[in-house]
Amino acid sequence: MAQSFPVPRTCPFAPPDDYGRLREEAPLVRTRLPGGDVWLVTRHAEAQQVLTDPRVSTDPMTPGHPMAAFSERPPTEEELRVRTRFQAGQFIDMDPPEHGVYRRMLIPEFTVRRIREMRPGIQETVDLLIDEMLKQGSSADLVEAFGLAVPSLVICRLLGVPYADHDFFQSRTRQLIGAGPGGSEDSFGAVTEIWDYLDGLIAEAERKPGDDLVGRLVTARRETGELSHDALVGMTFLLLVAGHETTANMIPLGVHTLLRDPAQLAALRADPDGWPAAVEELLRYHSIVDWVAFDRVATEDMEIGGQAVRAGEGMFVLGASANRDPRVFDRPDEFDIRRGARNHVAFGYGVHQCLGQNLARAELEIAYRTLFERIPGLRVVGEDDELPFKYDSVIFGLRALPVAW
Ligand code: HEM
Repeated sequence: MAQSFPVPRTCPFAPPDDYGRLREEAPLVRTRLPGGDVWLVTRHAEAQQVLTDPRVSTDPMTPGHPMAAFSERPPTEEELRVRTRFQAGQFIDMDPPEHGVYRRMLIPEFTVRRIREMRPGIQETVDLLIDEMLKQGSSADLVEAFGLAVPSLVICRLLGVPYADHDFFQSRTRQLIGAGPGGSEDSFGAVTEIWDYLDGLIAEAERKPGDDLVGRLVTARRETGELSHDALVGMTFLLLVAGHETTANMIPLGVHTLLRDPAQLAALRADPDGWPAAVEELLRYHSIVDWVAFDRVATEDMEIGGQAVRAGEGMFVLGASANRDPRVFDRPDEFDIRRGARNHVAFGYGVHQCLGQNLARAELEIAYRTLFERIPGLRVVGEDDELPFKYDSVIFGLRALPVAW
């Protein structure tokens, strides 16, 4: 039994304290939330099993969904109204076969080949941001100047947001992310503004579809007649939200981790071919997206890791625990860029496995490599215990990272 949940992190380089103990206790451990009990899935094998089992649902409307257990009472009419306003197209919350209708439309946009074609654009964005940092002087907040800006500008390119609107887009995405766990007035305002903006972008493409992601979605929709206008708006919104905060947190966190480890950083400088493996290890090691992405509910009675799970029982897969499971990773608490950690679950597993993972890998690799190449004297200003790590946030990261060179 876990005493309380969620368990906050206390160390920037480790999952929450209790995870190791829970993982050794059992593959599934119960925890009590105000609205009922929920299973925590602690080990790698069972995490993969839950995330691939067709008898497991991710739909928040499925009875017993674990997110509902955080509250003692059912949501009010007003809360439901606000929630459903932005529900269209959010295929991350849908089960097959509906989920596949949406996902299939986007798969061609995220193939390895397509991402390879995007690399020069990502490189150009990263270079421009570094030019700007260098122009401003010899210090910066890496979160503000770089971490938040890279994914925001990359998504602008992907969605075909005109250059003139980049500032608007960047400032609103920043508001969206600046908010704490429960959101805020500001973040709700930002959601509305971004949604309305994307609504306009889709409407424009409906008048004149171009040869870009939004144009192709509009054309595909016309040909298949499958989705509504709002569904397309929601899909582009999901790309933005899913791809922004995650990448924005990984960039500064990875830079900080590598600066603390001069030997491994030197190895990467000497052999840049090592970057892809280093990116995988950073993703595994930090597991910034933990249980919050992996909210599931059993729709039939089943057995997982020898444990009976009844239909209607909720589960949270602890991704950060699975990624430190010694049954799969040798010396799991060590950061080792040579381990080739491709089987981590930092991008999830199964039908919902991160659609943007190839893009994320390209962004991280280009961002880290270029930053360390172009600013060889980069260093963090301040000690670890003075840095504003997001211990209280559902997606781990840094609120600011003062650097100098
Ligand atoms: C470091 C960066 C990233 C991390 C750690 C990450 C992590 C994840 C995880 C764990 C899931 C699975 C959620 C689940 O099982 O329900 C997911 C899904 C998803 N991600 Fe990412 N992600 C990242 C970047 C991106 C990017 C750059 C994009 C696109 C621009 C993106 C788009 C999506 C989408 C659309 C889904 C939903 C897929 C589906 O339900 O079929 N992600 N991501």
